[in-house]
Amino acid sequence: MNRVTVRLPGEGVDRSYEVVVGSGALALLDGLLDALDTSPKRIAVVSQAGLPVTVSSTRECHRFMIGDGEHHKTLDTIQELCRGFASAGITRNDVVVAVGGGMVTDVAGFAAASYHRGIRVVHVPTTLLGMIDAAIGGKTGVNLPEGKNLVGAFWQPSGVLCDLDVLSTLPDREVRCGNGEMAKYHFLTGENLSALNLGERVARCVEIKAEVVASDERESGRRAILNYGHTLAHALETASEHRLAHGEAVAIGLLFAARLAERLGRISSERVEQHRIVIEDDYGLATTIPQVASPAEFVALMGRDKKAVDGLTFVLDGPSGIEVVANVDAVVVRELLDELVGS
Ligand SMILES: NC(=O)c1ccc[n+]([C@@H]2O[C@H](COP(=O)([O-])OP(=O)(O)OC[C@H]3O[C@@H](n4cnc5c(N)ncnc54)[C@H](O)[C@@H]3O)[C@@H](O)[C@H]2O)c1
Repeated sequence: MNRVTVRLPGEGVDRSYEVVVGSGALALLDGLLDALDTSPKRIAVVSQAGLPVTVSSTRECHRFMIGDGEHHKTLDTIQELCRGFASAGITRNDVVVAVGGGMVTDVAGFAAASYHRGIRVVHVPTTLLGMIDAAIGGKTGVNLPEGKNLVGAFWQPSGVLCDLDVLSTLPDREVRCGNGEMAKYHFLTGENLSALNLGERVARCVEIKAEVVASDERESGRRAILNYGHTLAHALETASEHRLAHGEAVAIGLLFAARLAERLGRISSERVEQHRIVIEDDYGLATTIPQVASPAEFVALMGRDKKAVDGLTFVLDGPSGIEVVANVDAVVVRELLDELVGS
């Protein structure tokens, strides 16, 4: 097993937690629960019907199934879950165990953050994307019709168990989605992650994310680099009504961000080509911007992005590396989209 600590020292309380990566990690659940200071008597397992992963525990176990797909990532689902927790007698000392992909860990994490003003949550991510990204770092939330992840909370898990065995049933498309986020880490560090075996690759991505989160838990600055490729990605997801999956949209958004950085004179055309090679050739991902919205609609959607406090805001490569760039000229963005949408 690989063990990575997400270091979150607080005032008087150390909220650091461990992410365990390896074959059979699921069997460690009861040990993790035993070590919690709240001595939980019950667990509320939140998962999806048909997911070929079950968790077992010696504790009183209540199971809650949520719908599959982004259109179930809503405040209605949070209400259903919290009402279910109340009916089952889940107390503030009990624990939510989220078993699923990033959609499940985001929703279950937000329900845990809200119920009784916050109870503990353990994440058991079952997708590659969930293991390397969504389950780590404490961002939870749901979508609104107006945009992705617009309502949520920072709520750190008490532990994360990444059991590599569960990935054997993951459809190819979901593996590609995980690769979309993995390509992001490739640019953040310059490392060739595709050269590592699966366990090492997952653990290395967790380490990279853990280090960034530890340096800026609430995204007052540096953590925003983890949103590389995400400004266009979130607009694509919303405009396509989530027919485009998150990781697929991130892959498209990464190459768009590189092209925009070139257009703004921040990077060379050779650096853009490096992006294309990694995303398309190394990770086998598509990068064409689908015609799910007009360029003007994309610009409007990107203006509603959570990062957009000062005009259009992107995470862009440049002479000082990857950083947040506010107030990007909407005309330049629009012209680039005019050239690229559907081409
Ligand atoms: N909180 C964060 O920091 C963060 C980071 C990145 C992404 N996200 C969020 O994560 C979500 C995307 O997560 P995702 O890509 O994991 O998608 P997902 O959770 O929607 O799962 C994709 C599909 O795979 C199925 N599935 C899951 N595990 C499986 C398994 N082991 N075998 C077979 N099928 C399985 C699911 O039932 C679902 O149909 C988005 O909502 C995105 O916003 C959050």
